[in-house]
This record gives sequence, structure tokens and C-alpha cells, in this order.
Amino acid sequence: MLIRTPQDWELPESAATPESLYHLSKRRDFLKALGVGGAALAAREALAATAGFPSKVNADYRDPALKPTAYEHITSYNNFYEFGTDKAEPKVLANRGWTTEPWTVEVTGLVNNPLKLDVNEVVKKMGGAEQRVYRLRCVEAWSMVVPWDGFQLSKLIALADPKSEAKFVTFTTFLDKKSSPGQRQGNLPYPYIEGLRLDEAMNELSFIATGIYGKPIPHQNGAPLRLVVPWKYGFKCIKSIVKIELTDKQPLNTWQVLQAREYGFYANVNPQVDHPRWTQASERVIGGGLGRQKTLMFNGYEQQVASLYTGMDLRKNY
Ligand code: MTE
Repeated sequence: MLIRTPQDWELPESAATPESLYHLSKRRDFLKALGVGGAALAAREALAATAGFPSKVNADYRDPALKPTAYEHITSYNNFYEFGTDKAEPKVLANRGWTTEPWTVEVTGLVNNPLKLDVNEVVKKMGGAEQRVYRLRCVEAWSMVVPWDGFQLSKLIALADPKSEAKFVTFTTFLDKKSSPGQRQGNLPYPYIEGLRLDEAMNELSFIATGIYGKPIPHQNGAPLRLVVPWKYGFKCIKSIVKIELTDKQPLNTWQVLQAREYGFYANVNPQVDHPRWTQASERVIGGGLGRQKTLMFNGYEQQVASLYTGMDLRKNY
């Protein structure tokens, strides 16, 4: 018989699902709590299922030691330069006329089966959404714990059927100067670009989020779909993706273009390699008062990802 040892990033069932319905784990209980019954319940369930919500909690990605950050903090302290450089701006500016519906995403490049689909269609093809609770560590030395809803990135890439020459994945955010004050100002080179090695993208932890706390992802957090790679600094978690392209060349990500000495391609969380201007040994916990905590190697996901970097100099490949 196989006995599973709980891993260091696993959370109890009670720690996920919508924040207000924290203690309710079953879908029917969830809907009952919303005051839905009988035929209305069936109709609401069908609708929720189409959009992938409420998602199924994935018990494999929970850590009893992690306390999810409050929804209010996760959705009001943001980095989304398309909508301003101040942490409070995206919540305001990304909800002033920018629409994320309908939204098409393509998977293209070195693949045998290129895809161009509406985001709801993608979630359906992925078999609906699941919820995972991950640590998020920004390169600016703050951190949160987020219950993300979505699907494993490897499933989407597998659907596109990569060619053998494909070695990297490039992700691109929307470009729309009319909707994005940051793009009008040119506060970064746009569109925002990020990249992973293909084996990093296929790692079980790499995730596409379409929700937070069991609700569709708010605009300021990267609606309608964003990347989540929890062992890397937050800037790798590109928001509002329109294109996923498989290539044979290592992509130049936006922050590397802007300041290569400070921001690299790998951006693995590493408490031993400081940012040129500040320490990465500890982090400020958002919603945690004045408290700081020690930063963990690969943000606590060493067991899952360390083997991806065997033999690599992580000081050089920062
Ligand atoms: N994606 C886009 N398109 N534009 C951005 O400015 N900021 C990144 C990342 N993804 C950013 C982005 C940075 S620096 C971080 S720390 C995370 O998003 C923040 O995600 P959050 O606002 O959901 O916490």
C-alpha cells in the first residue's frame, strides 16, 4: 500500500475555498450558503461548472503551516505596471473601463496543434478549475499566501503537442494603450513578456490561475488568466496572458530588458543571492503586521524543483 507523506507546502482543507465560506468544503454546502436551493441550485451549479467555479480543492497542494493572506490584501496590494506603479493603483485603474471579456488566448510556435481559444473554453478543456494554495514571494522582499483557482500549465502545453525542438516558453500580456495608462506612459517596455524553460513550464507546480479564493480572478490580479510559478520571484507570474509561444531560444523577459544586472531569466527565490540593492534573506509578510520571516530556498518548493537546476551556478543564473 502507498502511504503519502504530507509535504511542506500542503494546507488543510479548511484553509482554501472562498474566504467567507472557509469551513464549507462541499459544493452543495457552498451553494446552500449562498441561499440557492432546488431548481435554482441546479441551474447555478451548471453555470458555476461551466466557468470552473467553485473549483475542486486539490488536497495535494496544501500546507498546514501556511495561513492564506486575506482576500482584501491579495486584491488591493498589487504590481501591475500596465495600471500604475503604486501598489494601490491597479485596483482602481484596472477597473475603470478595461474589459477582459471576451478574451482569446493562443498557444503557438513550435507545436503540432496550435490553439486559439476563448478563455472559458480553455478552462472547460482543462476539465474545470482546481484550487491550490501557494506562497508568493516578490523580488521586492514581501510575501503573501494565495489560494489560486485554475489548472496545471503542463495540461495546456500538452494539448498543443510541443515539437521536439521546443525548449522554452514565452508568455505575452495584452497590448492596448487605450485601456492601459501604463502602456500609454511607457513606464516599462510593452507588451510585458515572461519566459520559462520548457521543463520548468511542465513542472507540476506551474499553474495558470483564473481565480482567487474560489472567485474569478480580479482585473488587478491579472484577469482573466495569469501564470503562477511559486518557486520564482513574483515578476515571473505574468498577468493577463494573450499568447503562449513555444520556441527554441531563451526569451528576454521584460525586467531583464530593463535592468539585466538586477533581474535575470531564472529569478528563482534564493535567500543566499541578494538583489544588488537589498537583502533577499528575509521578507515582509503582507497582512502580518511588522513581522518579517526568513525566505526559504526556492520559496519552500525545493523538493519539487531543485532537480531542474542540478549543476547550475545559481549565482550566475539569477
Ligand atoms: N504582469 C504584468 N503583465 N505586468 C506587471 O507589471 N507585475 C509582476 C507580476 N506580473 C506584473 C505582472 C510582479 S512584479 C509581481 S510581484 C506580481 O505580478 C504581482 O502579482 P499580484 O499583484 O497578484 O500580487
